Amino acid sequence: MKKLTFSTVMAVMAIVATTIALSTTMTSCKKSTSSVPTLYDSLGGTAMVKDPASSSGAMIETGRLGIRSVVDSTIFVIAADPALNNKFFSVLLGEVGKSNFSGFNELSMNLTDFFSVATGAKDYTYTGMDMVKAHNPATNSRMGTKASTADFDQFVGDLVKGAQKNGLPSNLIGSVGKLVYTLEGQVVQK
Ligand code: HEM
Repeated sequence: MKKLTFSTVMAVMAIVATTIALSTTMTSCKKSTSSVPTLYDSLGGTAMVKDPASSSGAMIETGRLGIRSVVDSTIFVIAADPALNNKFFSVLLGEVGKSNFSGFNELSMNLTDFFSVATGAKDYTYTGMDMVKAHNPATNSRMGTKASTADFDQFVGDLVKGAQKNGLPSNLIGSVGKLVYTLEGQVVQK
């Protein structure tokens, strides 16, 4: 029941997002022949800005910065979520509890790369495990146990909270939700 309700909301949001994207495309097609914007473009695209996390003034693509901000917020939401934290992320949380942030930094980078590529970024590559291997404790010892559909829905709910914390508009949250549900069959292995 919970999945049906949540999935229905995500589906409606996705339809609204698609309708907005289509009408924008149709309007712009009258004036220009430029290619259809990707979700990455909608998230800020390739425009360079100063990376607020860099002490040396490094620049970062706006889309990637937005994705990384959502990813990091989501990791914190999950760390505080008793339905997911110790059951799945005990290795990571154990490290962070000892002020070892190497696993956190790698997860943040891998998730940011993954979502950058998945939303259409051209300037980054994902070099982590595929989604089946990453979510099977037999091939990824950092994955506490196999995830169920209910765990997946809980994870997406935390992702939505992470996106909302960063002010992502609901149409874009709907598009990201649609994207993650295309991966459910690879992540859910229980
Ligand atoms: C579509 C949704 C999801 C995506 C796109 C995703 C993506 C990823 C990626 C890219 C990694 C890093 C893989 C690597 O280091 O090579 C990862 C790791 C992981 N994921 Fe997911 N994931 C999703 C859903 C879930 C769910 C539902 C759970 C559990 C309920 C989960 C738990 C984990 C854990 C425990 C790790 C290892 C964390 C660590 O490195 O300490 N993921 N995921």
